[in-house]
Parts: sequence; C-alpha cells; structure tokens
Amino acid sequence: MITYEEIKNNEVIKTYIKAADDALNALGYTEHSFAHVTYVAEKAGSILETLGYPERTVELTKIAGYMHDIGNVINRVDHSQSGAVMAFRILDNMHMDPTEIAMIISAIGNHDEGSGVPVSPMAAALILADKSDVRRNRVRNDDMSTFDIHDRVNYSVKKSELKINEAHTIIKLKLFVDTHYGSVMDYFEIFMQRMMLCRKAAEKLGLQFKLMINEQQLI
Ligand SMILES: [Fe+2]
Ligand SMILES: [Fe+2]
Repeated sequence: MITYEEIKNNEVIKTYIKAADDALNALGYTEHSFAHVTYVAEKAGSILETLGYPERTVELTKIAGYMHDIGNVINRVDHSQSGAVMAFRILDNMHMDPTEIAMIISAIGNHDEGSGVPVSPMAAALILADKSDVRRNRVRNDDMSTFDIHDRVNYSVKKSELKINEAHTIIKLKLFVDTHYGSVMDYFEIFMQRMMLCRKAAEKLGLQFKLMINEQQLI
C-alpha cells in the first residue's frame, strides 16, 4: 500500500508542487509550496484521526492534502479539478487501488471555494485544513506598500489555531490578528466564502464550525 511518506519523497510530485508554487508566485499569490501542503496534509489527517476514522483513511487524507494544490501548475482557475486529474494519473501509475484513488481525487477536486463541496469526510477535512492556513510567513511580497488584500490579511495573522473540542461537537478556528496591517473587514471580504465552505465541511463531520478573531466570536 502506498504511504504518505512515499508520496512525500516522490520526486515527480515534488517537481509539480514546486512548479505549481512558482506559477502562483508569478501571479503574486501567497506561498503554496511545501510548507502549505505539508501543513494541510498533517492538519487534515489529524482532524480525521481525532474523530476516530480508520488509520488508512487518515493516511489517504494526508496524501490528498499533500497533492491538493498541484493543479495550479496548469492554471489557478479550476486548479482543484486539474489537480485531481493530475493526481489520478500519478497514483494510477503507482498502481494505487482504484477505490483509494477515487477517495483522493474526489477530495482534491472539491477543495476550492469556487466549486468545492464537502462530498466526503476526507474532502471536508481537506477544506478545513486548507482554509485554516493563514499566516504571516505565507506573504512573499516584501514591499509592504504594494500589499494586496491577501497579503494584508495573511500578514496580519500572527497565529492561527484549528481545534476540535473534547466532546467532538465543535471545530474552532482561532485567529490572532494584528489589525495594524489588515482589518477584520479585510479578512471578511476574502474569507466569507471560505468560511461558508468551512461551515458545510464541519457539518459533514458532525461538527459545528466556529470562528474567533482576537477572542471575539464571529461565527
Ligand atoms: Fe487550492
Ligand atoms: Fe491550498
């Protein structure tokens, strides 16, 4: 059986992750490279692990998380779908079981807020992990005077935490925002759609989604 470790050490996949991030860098996007995809892989896996999903489902979720943004090498638009097709070819060539491939490509193909739907627990975990990766060091633009709204919002987040409560009823995204760089309104402008998707994703996992910014409960 193909493991997350094997996928992480695969040079072909590394090449696509790097190239996808280079393409986004050229477009002025925040970091989508190894730091982002590793965070998403591990966070998505830990969500399902905490909720008691089978070990193999957790492993496959990590694989989906690691590969979720490779489609950006083709185009930012519809990158979830193009990434799913790329993952299909790569994993099929590695002789992964079709049932497992199906779970992974379904999750990758549904992670983006434009057209994504949490069609499975794996897709839901991937969405929650992906949207919670907001942090200062994702900003690559070093000229603050030219920051766009994404730069401002990411730069303003000093710390973010995504946690499931002990009773397994709530998943809470806590953000510590330095409003000197970006306002809470900025955050809402770009995150409204993402937060709606997070709410649906949490529901898929039987959880309620809550958002807290600077100790204030917003959702
Ligand atoms: Fe993405
Ligand atoms: Fe992502």
